[in-house]
Amino acid sequence: MALRGCLIIMLPIIPRPLSCVEKRGQFELTPETAIFAASSLQAEGTYFAQQLSAATGLVITMKLTASAAPHHVIRLELTDDCQHLGTEGYRLAIMPDAVKISAAAPAGIFYACQTALQLLPANAPRTLPCAEIEDAPRFRWRGMHLDVCRHFMPKEFIKRCLDLLARYKFNTFHWHLTEDQGWRLEINKHPKLTEIGAWRMENGERYGGFYTQDDAREIVAYAQERHITVLPEIEMPGHAVAALAAYPELSCSGGPFEVATTWGIFQDVYCAGNERVFTLLEDVFSEVFDIFPSQYIHIGGDECPKERWKTCHQCQARIQAEGLRNEEELQSYFIKRIEKFLHANNRRLIGWDEILEGGLAPDATVMSWRGEQGGIEAARQGHDVIMTPQSHCYFDHYQSSDFANEPKAFSLQPPLPLEDVYAYEPIPAELMPEEAAHVLGAQANLWTEYIPTTQQAEYMLLPRLCALSEVVWSPKELRDEANFFSRLPAHFDYFDAMGINYRRLKK
Ligand code: ACM
Ligand code: ZN
Repeated sequence: MALRGCLIIMLPIIPRPLSCVEKRGQFELTPETAIFAASSLQAEGTYFAQQLSAATGLVITMKLTASAAPHHVIRLELTDDCQHLGTEGYRLAIMPDAVKISAAAPAGIFYACQTALQLLPANAPRTLPCAEIEDAPRFRWRGMHLDVCRHFMPKEFIKRCLDLLARYKFNTFHWHLTEDQGWRLEINKHPKLTEIGAWRMENGERYGGFYTQDDAREIVAYAQERHITVLPEIEMPGHAVAALAAYPELSCSGGPFEVATTWGIFQDVYCAGNERVFTLLEDVFSEVFDIFPSQYIHIGGDECPKERWKTCHQCQARIQAEGLRNEEELQSYFIKRIEKFLHANNRRLIGWDEILEGGLAPDATVMSWRGEQGGIEAARQGHDVIMTPQSHCYFDHYQSSDFANEPKAFSLQPPLPLEDVYAYEPIPAELMPEEAAHVLGAQANLWTEYIPTTQQAEYMLLPRLCALSEVVWSPKELRDEANFFSRLPAHFDYFDAMGINYRRLKK
């Protein structure tokens, strides 16, 4: 793939494409404009028609065709000559009399449509500038995580996030569904998880919420339409107080517990010696499998204190029976046992980097959040890795050190300015090439302890998400901070037009 940068007046595409040649002229969208595609691209064509109609105010329809389309059309087609661009790559040719979009697979077509949508001017969105673009992502894992437990985020906001993710060519939405402060997914077999676990008392009032299974299915379908996989996270063995409030018999002490109302790390966790814990978790996963087609399931694994296990008869009996040396190995036993269940159901396990402690489960993928060290170690052991280091990927940190003029955010860590996100390099220099191949990509994490509203969540995401999109999509050689900043204003115009909150650039 030749690396040809955009010409002098750069089209404001984010993430920056592999190659982009601007041409003279423009394609005008008119009431006669239609999209032509084969039935294999009906979903992408229909989506594009809806988006173009909404942006232009025209009624643009998609028509099925196998043969030559008439003049002045937008044509989508799957072709073998885009094989070298992979399943997510594409070619987009915008000419005065036609737009031609081609790719080896539907995902590539979808991303080409996103590029075209970005090229519609915010103030007069009925023209597309002529250009020839060839594009493909650098990484296959391009994600964003959202904690809906510390503060509940309504279904409509999840869809808004998915729209943003699609616009910036992310392909994974990591949905953090269970926590100490709330269990957010309806589980039919264990209804108390949401009847009790989804609610907490805050300033004398009941606070909380959850997604029904129908809600979750609606989100999965909405995401699928946008070529986004929803990765569900069910936390264990720690960060489980909300579940223990519902079923205290699953703890070491027996409880009782209340859904947590403060932030932090809690001592009470699932009892690793109690079979009923595994029964409940397997029941939960069975329903999760039914809702979420994702190959991967995230099982948490972070920040699990071992104090209760040290004094619990059942946990100590498990350590004896399994020949384990200590409580770290007991956590490893827990995670490996869950991995076996996932494998038996054709799913794969992802966990935070603490799952390295006491020995990694055989096929586990590691999300490296306490810096990159966990990711480096896992890659060296031959495991796949997703990079989410706090230093560059935690969007709950302040965006600047001007704390007085920023909404309240997580303040125990240094701020994470836009420039630092943009500068992030997901492949650590110390990895050998065959180890580096295990780094699947990177993801932004949005924890919501200090983010009570969807408006603030948008502010924390934007424009940092734009910067990360370029980190995970664009060729490393084309990354250029000044150039990125020059493309941002067009995106701000779009956010303004859509009523999306974001942090303005401050000099
Ligand atoms: C984490 O931030 N505790 C994964
Ligand atoms: Zn126990």
